[in-house]
Amino acid sequence: MVYVTRREVFSAAHVLYNAEWSDSRNAEVFDKCANPRGHGHNYVLEVTIAGEIDPSTGYVIDLKLLKSIIKEQIIAKVDHKHLNYDVDFLQNIIPTAENIAVAIWNELVHRIPSGTLYSVKVHETENNCAEYKG
Ligand code: NI
Repeated sequence: MVYVTRREVFSAAHVLYNAEWSDSRNAEVFDKCANPRGHGHNYVLEVTIAGEIDPSTGYVIDLKLLKSIIKEQIIAKVDHKHLNYDVDFLQNIIPTAENIAVAIWNELVHRIPSGTLYSVKVHETENNCAEYKG
């Protein structure tokens, strides 16, 4: 098994807020991230595909094709958007890196033409990231 990864970047705003909680509980748990007007991140997304090498191409998956799938299905919908309001596949979740990774996995898992989706990793800052492997 060989693993290949495509990296993409996007910039987006979000608020971490649980609507079932009081404002003070939200402020206590999410601190500055609960600021109602939101704040932004330069996210880095890494999508890893696992598979066998096709001997005729030497590829697990053509990364040009993977790039175009990620661009169409994910980046076009999240880049320069507000993740709480603007993105159909992020509705009704708290847009943490964890939840974003799971949601992106669900968008991509049935759209990978060769190999299988192995992981989706979302870096929110240089120091924080979340990875989902299904
Ligand atoms: Ni944040």
